[in-house]
Amino acid sequence: MSKAFTIATVLGALVSTTLGHGYVAGIKANGVYTEGWQVSYWYDIVNKAPYPQSPGWYEEALDLGFIQPSAYHVVHTFTCVDAMHRTSDIICHKNAVNANVSATVPAGGSVEFYWTTWPHTIGPVLTYVANCGGDCKLVNKATLKWVKIDESGIDFTTQVWASGALINNNNTWTTTVPKTLAPGHYVFRHEIIALHGGGSLNGAQNYPFCTNIDVTGSGTANPTGTLATTFYKETDPGIYFNPYVTMTNYTIPGPALWTG
Ligand SMILES: *[C@@H]1O[C@H](CO)[C@@H](O)[C@H](O)[C@H]1NC(C)=O
Ligand SMILES: *[C@@H]1O[C@H](CO)[C@@H](O)[C@H](O)[C@H]1NC(C)=O
Ligand SMILES: *[C@@H]1O[C@H](CO)[C@@H](O)[C@H](O)[C@H]1NC(C)=O
Repeated sequence: MSKAFTIATVLGALVSTTLGHGYVAGIKANGVYTEGWQVSYWYDIVNKAPYPQSPGWYEEALDLGFIQPSAYHVVHTFTCVDAMHRTSDIICHKNAVNANVSATVPAGGSVEFYWTTWPHTIGPVLTYVANCGGDCKLVNKATLKWVKIDESGIDFTTQVWASGALINNNNTWTTTVPKTLAPGHYVFRHEIIALHGGGSLNGAQNYPFCTNIDVTGSGTANPTGTLATTFYKETDPGIYFNPYVTMTNYTIPGPALWTG
């Protein structure tokens, strides 16, 4: 067997195992669509080709993969030159780096998150915001304190999970920004937790994606947030459980919802 053939076969196998997942490819903030970070930009960077600036954060999940529960509490600080490779991936996905530009939404307005074709029907959808306290392109992500502004688990009547509803809605999810949220430069962290493997410890799959969005308006609320590295535990009732039964209760993971 030639070496070229072997490499092509391995690549083919890699591609076919990766088709199952996805990412946030764009957002519509206050009705305006903006492309998010595209996985293909990583190859542009490697090839020294130009790529557009986007409010979506750089991340390196080239396999369209996920963060697993064993990484929930991994804490790294940004003090050295290899910051790009020492990161707490639960914050904004694998080796995430700040976006340099921001979208804009008024408090009370909505943000739609456009996912690539989403395959996993079981699991909640959550959206968090963190005030950067200045320009979001410069903030240290490890210091961001997140407030959960939107969460959805399962409809007990239909047994349709939020991720299934997202698929049925053209792979999009709409989050309303609480009207009272103070204006400022924010990072929005939108996440699906896929739970088709939730019956096993470390079987959950977290897909968090970050986008810089400036919030405008005259709100005055500055709710207290939580570090992303303290959101979840491997044994949370909404992370580690058998989803293949008729669900009659579900404890949505993460800190309490703040609705303004
Ligand atoms: C943002 O700009 C900085 C400085 O020019 C650059 O190093 C970084 O890669 C940019 N971030 C993204 C996500 O393109
Ligand atoms: C569905 O989403 C795609 C982008 O992901 C968009 O191009 C298309 O217009 C959307 N379709 C509808 C009916 O909204
Ligand atoms: C459902 O409620 C029971 C009893 O309180 C609890 O033990 C269990 O963890 C809950 N299940 C989920 C998936 O939240």
